[in-house]
Amino acid sequence: MPRHQNENHLQLPKHYRRLKRGPQVILPKDIGLIIAYTGIGKDSICLDAGTGSGWLAVSLARICKEVTTYDVRDDFLKIAEKNKIGENLQNLTLKNADITKKVTERNVDLVTLDMPNSEKALRNAKLALKQGGYVVGYLPHMEQVKKFAMKAQQLGFMNVFTLESIVRDMLVREEGTRPSTKGVWHTGYLVFAEK
Ligand SMILES: C[S@@+](CC[C@H](N)C(=O)[O-])C[C@H]1O[C@@H](n2cnc3c(N)ncnc32)[C@H](O)[C@@H]1O
Repeated sequence: MPRHQNENHLQLPKHYRRLKRGPQVILPKDIGLIIAYTGIGKDSICLDAGTGSGWLAVSLARICKEVTTYDVRDDFLKIAEKNKIGENLQNLTLKNADITKKVTERNVDLVTLDMPNSEKALRNAKLALKQGGYVVGYLPHMEQVKKFAMKAQQLGFMNVFTLESIVRDMLVREEGTRPSTKGVWHTGYLVFAEK
């Protein structure tokens, strides 16, 4: 049966299926938006927190020059380390550190934050970013979005905007072509802000 008829194509792409998974990960649909809206690429330097399973960090390291990712939990860093080795990413550095306390990186193009109370990391994100660089917060709830966006504005970030990505899978069949009734709906909102 052709792939588009078996209603199974919302499964993860194969380069994500081989990654190990511990805590909740950021999914490809949201990673795509982060990459497209911040314009990062082969010359970009990124800082990420928390690492979690490292799905976002690995995705960034696949296309960027250098990625550093912070997590406070050693057990999660071990999972991310396995993913780093599995993907052979020498440009990815894992750090056991609290991003709200201190950042040593400077002049980075992008800071990504996927962790509880991530608005508390915005001050350090600004310190690490180059002028014109972006911070992106991945936030499951609207209340967090408001807190994060307002704090970013208070700190002098510009062009603060929030997006949600809803991806629908299309069934293409003789008997009728329509969106599938299966799918991943809400994952998280993405708040973007520019230094
Ligand atoms: C949902 S996970 C991140 C998942 C990751 N974005 C991915 O795609 O695999 C959230 C992580 O934030 C970490 N975390 C919480 N507070 C932190 C902090 N202050 N600094 C760094 N990491 C933190 C947690 O330990 C946890 O591993």
